[in-house]
Formats: sequence, structure tokens, C-alpha cells
Amino acid sequence: MAEGFTAYDAAKSAAIGGLRGTVLEIGAGRGRNFGRLHPDVTWIGCEPDRRRRTELARTAHGFGHTREPLASAAESVPLPDASVDAVLATVVLCSVRDQARVLAEIARLLRPGGEFVFAEHVGAPERTWKRALQRVIAPATRLLDHGCDPSRETELSLRRSPLDLVQVEHFDLPALGAITVPYVVGRALRT
Ligand SMILES: C[S@@+](CC[C@H](N)C(=O)[O-])C[C@H]1O[C@@H](n2cnc3c(N)ncnc32)[C@H](O)[C@@H]1O
Repeated sequence: MAEGFTAYDAAKSAAIGGLRGTVLEIGAGRGRNFGRLHPDVTWIGCEPDRRRRTELARTAHGFGHTREPLASAAESVPLPDASVDAVLATVVLCSVRDQARVLAEIARLLRPGGEFVFAEHVGAPERTWKRALQRVIAPATRLLDHGCDPSRETELSLRRSPLDLVQVEHFDLPALGAITVPYVVGRALRT
């Protein structure tokens, strides 16, 4: 278990920087990952929040990406089967309505051998006070923070998905005072 933002940031940058070809970024927000993507990548974004999408489009153009971001949710993306080389999600799987459906959709969109790169905060281990706290605050964060549920068992969802989880690193990042939040950074393949 690595600690601190520097190690997390380095792992995230390495995973994102390794992507090539056509990359679909789900829940791309305001476009904070453009600086980490290789400049030759053909970027397609999806972002359901209208205001964020407007900002995203502006930032995307600034980085030379010409395609307008899709308005769709990650549960159903209007792209053909096996049409992208990679899918990227950073702090999105906590927010989607249905993780299993999103992961199945990612598997549908990836070409065989394509990879899914993720960097996500996740639920603390079961039967810990931290997990109990995450459950208590979840209704408020779901309401106020784009559907975010801090208790999501994202790694388990990935292991149960059609994707093949090939790499996962664990981080504990400072949040409030002495409280830390568990994060994972990793890669899963469509085999
Ligand atoms: C915490 S933000 C992260 C934004 C960006 N990925 C980043 O790292 O800065 C979560 C994003 O997921 C988006 N989101 C929420 N539900 C979604 C869904 N079902 N499908 C795709 N994106 C979703 C939100 O609109 C928001 O922009």
C-alpha cells in the first residue's frame, strides 16, 4: 500500500500516458486528464453533465482534440462494438448508476486486447469504522456530488466483470485530518 498524492499521481500519469490509439474517456468532467494523455491519442469523451461538457469541449479543443464530447452516460455509449483501443475513467466508477452495466459496456466498446485504465477512490474494507462512515455519508454525497458513493466496491466489480483485471495498485490518500481514503489505479484488458 503506497501513501500520499505523489505516488498516486505518478501511477495515474504512467497508466494514462501509456494509452495509444483511440481513447474513450468516460465521465471526463472538465478535462483534467488531457495533460497526461500522449499527444498522438485520438480522444473521444463522454460527459453527461451539460455544464461540465461545455467546459470539457473548450479544454479538449485547446489540446487539439476536435471531436465534440458525447452527452451520454457510460452505461450506454453510442459507439459501435470494438471501436476503441482504450477506455479511461478517473473518479467516475464511484458515480455511475450501475457499475456492472458500465463495465459490460466498456468490454463491448473495447477491441480485443484493448485496455481499460482506471484511477478511483473505493470503499474501505468491510467491518471497519471507515466503511461505516462511508455508508453514512453516501446518501449526502450521492445527492451533492454527481451521484458519488464512497463505499463502492469497485475492485470487486472489476473482478466480476467481463474484463480481465491485470494490474491494480492500492493507495491511501489524506482526506480530512487524519482520515485517509483508499484509492486504486490499474488496468483491465478485454481478452
Ligand atoms: C468526480 S468527477 C471526475 C471527473 C474527471 N474524470 C476527473 O478526473 O476530473 C465524476 C464525473 O463523472 C460524471 N458522471 C456521473 N455519472 C456518470 C455516468 N453514469 N456516466 C458517465 N459519467 C458520469 C460526472 O458528471 C462527473 O463529471
